[in-house]
Amino acid sequence: MKRVAILISGGGSNMLALVASMTGDHPARPVLVASNDPGAMGLKRAAELGIATAAVEHRPFKGDRAAFEAALLQPILAAEPDILCLAGFMRVLTPAFVARFEGRMLNIHPSLLPKYTGLHTHQRALDAGDTEAGCSVHEVTAALDEGPLLGQARVPVLPGDTADSLGARVLAQEHRLYPAVLRRFAAGDRSPIFLS
Ligand code: GRF
Repeated sequence: MKRVAILISGGGSNMLALVASMTGDHPARPVLVASNDPGAMGLKRAAELGIATAAVEHRPFKGDRAAFEAALLQPILAAEPDILCLAGFMRVLTPAFVARFEGRMLNIHPSLLPKYTGLHTHQRALDAGDTEAGCSVHEVTAALDEGPLLGQARVPVLPGDTADSLGARVLAQEHRLYPAVLRRFAAGDRSPIFLS
């Protein structure tokens, strides 16, 4: 059974989708939900489900990413995860941190990578007049949002869409895609899947 740690920064809806999927014959189980924000709603939700949680606030480190990550590593290493899932974790990790978990750290990104790495992906898709958008799960490498693709799901851009309405449609797909990819990845299958 693979041990999964999930890093979040906010509400944790992707974390909840991952946790809900890891039952029965799923080859993995959640062992930790950690956040850089002690007030993250997702931490409260994970604790209510009986999952160990940890919070390491990044602000006191005043931009010293190595020191922040050294503190964050303590609860993570104590949980001995086989796989790390970034699920709405909004801190950019250093290459040194990434190197520790290379090949076993995943991220969900709300665009059809390689389009729109970084932030504000839905507004950028609308501004470009795209007719479709979506989300991607990829392995995390030192290059932000550029690691090997593990899965994508597409949605149509509809007339009158705003970044919020499009974001909500994409988020619903995220909650399907990330669990599907994690199940395969935990079973050793890294071939990408494409949902529509
Ligand atoms: C998701 O859209 C994810 O793709 C992005 O941040 C959002 C987090 O949502 N990185 P949640 O915290 O999982 O609800």
